[in-house]
Amino acid sequence: MADVTGYAYGSPIFRSRRVLTDEYVPPSLRVRREEADLLTRRLLLKLIHGPVTNDITLIYGSSGVVGVGKTMLAKYSGMRAVEEARRKGINAVYIHVNVYGSPSIYTVLKAIVPQLDPRIPVHGVSAIDVLREIVYRLYREDMYMILTIDEFQSMLAGKIDDASLYQLLRLYEQIPPPDGVSRIIYILVAMDLQILAQLKKRLPQIESQIAYRIHMRPYNAEELYQILEQRAEEGLQPGTWTPYLLQMIAEEVAMGTQGGSARKAINVLRTAAENAEALGLSTITESLVRHALAETQMSLISVDQLSMLNKHEALMLLALAKLIDQKGNYATTGEIATLYQQLAENYGIKPLGHSQFHERLNRVMSSLANSGLVDYKRSGKGMRGRTTLYRLAPSIPADRLVDVMERLVLPRILEG
Ligand SMILES: Nc1ncnc2c1ncn2[C@@H]1O[C@H](COP(=O)(O)OP(=O)(O)OP(=O)(O)O)[C@@H](O)[C@H]1O
Ligand SMILES: [Mg+2]
Repeated sequence: MADVTGYAYGSPIFRSRRVLTDEYVPPSLRVRREEADLLTRRLLLKLIHGPVTNDITLIYGSSGVVGVGKTMLAKYSGMRAVEEARRKGINAVYIHVNVYGSPSIYTVLKAIVPQLDPRIPVHGVSAIDVLREIVYRLYREDMYMILTIDEFQSMLAGKIDDASLYQLLRLYEQIPPPDGVSRIIYILVAMDLQILAQLKKRLPQIESQIAYRIHMRPYNAEELYQILEQRAEEGLQPGTWTPYLLQMIAEEVAMGTQGGSARKAINVLRTAAENAEALGLSTITESLVRHALAETQMSLISVDQLSMLNKHEALMLLALAKLIDQKGNYATTGEIATLYQQLAENYGIKPLGHSQFHERLNRVMSSLANSGLVDYKRSGKGMRGRTTLYRLAPSIPADRLVDVMERLVLPRILEG
């Protein structure tokens, strides 16, 4: 049993389950602390003196490497800067928006508004009016906002036009408040540095505003060990784990092809701990750790990330996973369309029409391909007319993905 704070009363293994989840932001850092402290100070100075111009911080990783703390760093530094500012009597708020999938400007606004002030109307209001309302709200309350846009590369790949992106990222030129003070500090989080080239081509003014960049490298075994040790101390009961087990996980994860992912290391520890608990053991054994290491291919894909898909996108991915699970090889657009329709019916969702379906499928599949989940290619000449063929990346077990989508992801999306 656990209460809302995640404290696991009476569990022989867990002290707090929350500590071993993806969303958990540790209260202090043992690894990358200097980077985080520097960013915190920079943000705090901006909160104190007001951002000079719209200057933007970019946090980025390396292509193909996930779980290296980009999201964590933005949240950790952003939230700490806001806390410190409040202590000095400055009104400030930290807002984190994940734009994974194919967001529209509305998706983004709908994610910002409830965190800022749920009374701001969004439905049936034009984007520019919502933005104006945000600017005025900040002005009236003399409030500063640190706004993180996470998975920013999705936004460039998606359907948001340049004008909307400018509106969002240069709000204070578009809609100056009466006192002319700019109150938004932006952090963009992106997968890798390609984002700069894309920005330079599409939105050169925004690119030139990026005043500060932080590269999050994959972690080495020593760093992963320290991260795991902190989670074990905070999240697990004393005596349930040994340094040797954490070392095993750290070394293996640092070596793997997707090396250096803190998420993967933490997931392995959590899986081993959960299995120990399920088996009624009082300690985590080496054998459980080995099993968990073998099992965690799937956990590279975070349920959180998949939960950012909208219901149609999620059904498209589920359709693809089912097709690959059933028959292997590649699936055609037509096959995905047919199964998508069936699934939509089963879930009581009105399916998208023909052209909307194709447009959305293209977009979501290229975004999923960017995160290494999906592969696609154009069909050869043999088929009537050329079409696009899709499959899951070779490292993704299709049956596990079907399971994760059906049990975890879709219920979350349909509830939300
Ligand atoms: N330096 C660190 N200290 C403690 N925990 C960390 C550190 N870096 C990452 N983590 C933890 O590892 C997990 C994954 O980190 P995070 O989600 O920030 O990675 P990411 O780079 O944003 O991944 P993705 O590319 O998939 O978005 C989180 O649970 C996070 O708290
Ligand atoms: Mg992230």
